Amino acid sequence: MKVFTSKHELSGYLDTLKEKGKIIGFVPTMGALHQGHLSLIEIAARNTDCVVCSIFVNPTQFNDPEDLAKYPRPIDADIAMLEQVNCDVLFLPAVQEMYSGDEQWSIDLGYLERILEGRFRPGHYQGVTQIVKKLFDVVQPNKAFFGQKDFQQVKVIMKMVELYSMPVEIVMCPILREEDGLAMSSRNIHLSPSERVEALALSKTLNSTRENFAIKPISQLQQDAESFLQNSEGVELEYFEICNAETLMPAESKDEAGLVALVAAKVGRTRLIDNIIIK
Ligand code: PAJ
Repeated sequence: MKVFTSKHELSGYLDTLKEKGKIIGFVPTMGALHQGHLSLIEIAARNTDCVVCSIFVNPTQFNDPEDLAKYPRPIDADIAMLEQVNCDVLFLPAVQEMYSGDEQWSIDLGYLERILEGRFRPGHYQGVTQIVKKLFDVVQPNKAFFGQKDFQQVKVIMKMVELYSMPVEIVMCPILREEDGLAMSSRNIHLSPSERVEALALSKTLNSTRENFAIKPISQLQQDAESFLQNSEGVELEYFEICNAETLMPAESKDEAGLVALVAAKVGRTRLIDNIIIK
């Protein structure tokens, strides 16, 4: 695997591949890699000629300084995992390589950045789009792969791509879960053994929402999920919403083409998110 820390050297190398007609796949990450991340690399490898993964803990998308400070950074283990799945290129920039001091610019994401995650993490999606735009500008991938785990993030990236008419295809990949249903996340290592069990309330609620979809009205599904989560030991619910999978507006009818249930909660000091496509 080739490792680059400089934008200039990375784009120079990728230019030589693009001249040969190679299709570039891109998987941006913040590291602390797990099987969920690796599944994106594998999907990218099946669909492109050269897979670029970036590891960059992006300071502008953290609204909680403690969360940024304690974000895991096991870079040697990450490199070993990427080599195991035959990732072609790793981009590992320092903060100064991506940001030139205090940058004041934003993208008009409309209501998408104010709902769900945006309501609880103000400014988060400005940070995400800022860095993904910069990374896309350097890598100029043909296809970029994102996890359904961050469903709203995929919608936000699609919106940005549309706004800037970027020539990149966004591919949404399935959520990888632990055997007991917990969605894999870099933050799971912060869970104590008892919190690890309490965290299962999220995937359990999502599953039962999907199972009961045919027999209960949306309002009842919403109410059941909220009361289950509010009564779950150790779980501090932030939101549970059943939304239109295209617009992410609250679902009004079961007849809408696609529906997704999304949840965010704190388990101890660790904030977790999860979702399931129910239709
Ligand atoms: P990070 O949280 O490291 O996630 C990188 C990618 O892995 C995202 O597309 C995320 O949705 C995906 N992912 C995480 N957990 C997953 C799982 N259990 N199954 C499948 N895919 C999973 O998301 C970010 O980083 C950042 O916001 C980033 C886009 C890199 C911008 O900084």
